[in-house]
Amino acid sequence: MNIFIFLLLLVSTLEAKVVLITGASRGIGLKTAEHLTSLGHTVYATNRKELDVTDDASIQRTLETIMQKEGRLDVLINNAGIAVFGPFELVTIEQAQRVFDVNFFGAMRVMQQVLPIMRKQNSGLIINMSSTSGVRPSPGWDVYGASKFALEGLSEAARAMAHQWNIDVVVVEPGTCATHFFTESTEIASRKNEDTAIYDTFMPNAMKWMEERLAAGQNPEEVAAVIATVIATDKPKMRYQTSVKGTQTVAKLHCDPTGETSTREQELLLEPLWRGGLDPQIGSSFR
Ligand SMILES: NC(=O)c1ccc[n+]([C@@H]2O[C@H](COP(=O)([O-])OP(=O)(O)OC[C@H]3O[C@@H](n4cnc5c(N)ncnc54)[C@H](OP(=O)(O)O)[C@@H]3O)[C@@H](O)[C@H]2O)c1
Repeated sequence: MNIFIFLLLLVSTLEAKVVLITGASRGIGLKTAEHLTSLGHTVYATNRKELDVTDDASIQRTLETIMQKEGRLDVLINNAGIAVFGPFELVTIEQAQRVFDVNFFGAMRVMQQVLPIMRKQNSGLIINMSSTSGVRPSPGWDVYGASKFALEGLSEAARAMAHQWNIDVVVVEPGTCATHFFTESTEIASRKNEDTAIYDTFMPNAMKWMEERLAAGQNPEEVAAVIATVIATDKPKMRYQTSVKGTQTVAKLHCDPTGETSTREQELLLEPLWRGGLDPQIGSSFR
């Protein structure tokens, strides 16, 4: 085969895609944008000022711009996310609603506007950024985990429906990543009354443990590489973890129909957070 035909084949295998990423001002979204651009894809890496996932009009404006310029949208990466940290008893309803408004309703809003575009094209890929917390809640991430569980449920339902239009919906489930998620995108649970004092030791322990876990977390570049592989795949699967440990965690859960193994594991994680004396290895399966 001559070199020209080889290069042509290589370019057609890479197939440059038009990609929209939400929440790409930093962290996983930014690294994914950089990586996909370096591979030759056309990337619309949006920040909250251009596309706020809680604002339908801003989603519509962005999609109109992309369609005017590119005439198509091949891949949506619903990456924008926020959290509230603390056991659910300490989370105010307003804090929980804010998290769901971005992580669940935000992703749903963008999907609702993107699906008709992809349906007309008879092609498309939607990647929803979940988490290992979307299959097993980690200590202190009760409401965040719940929002990712909801996103997983929506993604699974949407996937089965969208296949008939040649559209794929997948979830990516990173474990702990070394981004600024905890410092920049996470509120601390603030519901207080005489009953919540029971968490006075637990909370500082859990926060310290979490800060250490996040600092030692996976590089966002590795998550970006997994996303690039999903985009290059002909028939993507439903879920993608981003590390061997993450896959082991999820595999274990899917072999635990009663949920008892998972409950026991969570109890073991929670126990030292009540009394301090944290073992840095605790919860390493989340990474
Ligand atoms: N870090 C982890 O350990 C981890 C693990 C598993 C999954 N994830 C998920 O990965 C995704 C990215 O997180 P990250 O770690 O990269 O955190 P990050 O660096 O804090 O990035 C979060 C991004 O979401 C954006 N965002 C927040 N609210 C938004 C809204 N209403 N509309 C549009 N954008 C909004 C932020 O924009 P602003 O600059 O405007 O705040 C920021 O760009 C999230 O969905 C998160 O749940 C993270």
